[in-house]
Amino acid sequence: MRVSVLIWLALGCFSASLPAQQVQTNEPKYTNEGQLIKPDNYREWIYLSSGLGMTYGIVESAANTVFGDRFDNVFVNPQAYKSFLGTGAWPDKTIFAMEVRSSASKGSINKGGRYQEELVGLEIHLKDQTRFPNKWAFFAFSPADKTAKPLPANSSCQTCHSQNGAVDETFVQFYPTLIPIAKAKGTFKADK
Ligand code: HEC
Repeated sequence: MRVSVLIWLALGCFSASLPAQQVQTNEPKYTNEGQLIKPDNYREWIYLSSGLGMTYGIVESAANTVFGDRFDNVFVNPQAYKSFLGTGAWPDKTIFAMEVRSSASKGSINKGGRYQEELVGLEIHLKDQTRFPNKWAFFAFSPADKTAKPLPANSSCQTCHSQNGAVDETFVQFYPTLIPIAKAKGTFKADK
């Protein structure tokens, strides 16, 4: 009896300390100070697409030097994806994770093309309608960060996304499997 209580206590302590280390969540979770806790399981979410060396209109020559060989990989939480399939719109508590990775060309048996390497950063775009004035918020994590503050409501992230995103400030025009759904549901802004 005493042993099983000890085991129970040990497990209880372990799971209580878990959130700070590893957060397996499909909903946004915040610290008491309002920072977003990094969702460590985003690689189990739905994969939307990857970009290679995308510069988004940042001065192309400078951007090519810095970003030219970087990949980005975009994931969305499963419940938001399922809802999008039915409506072409993003529900409250949608979370996008976009990881940025460096790349290489020559290694092992590979001689041409590019493959992905180290994580350089993780960006989050999420919808939490009651918490944020724009309904959506942006966060940038360096690889070591466990938490991040919301970027200001007038950040360049917000401006570019709300002006250029094809569906509700997200870049569905670059996620090929979602384009036909948004078009069929009438949520795709035609001029994007
Ligand atoms: C000049 C325009 C521009 C700016 C500024 C910008 N983004 Fe984006 N963002 C894009 C584009 C284009 C994509 C599509 C990427 C792809 O296809 O791989 C994207 C995709 C994303 C995604 C994937 C989900 C979505 O909304 O489509 C996240 C997350 C994201 N950006 C976060 C950020 C954060 C955080 C910032 C600010 C630090 C930021 N972005 C600034 C253009 C921009």
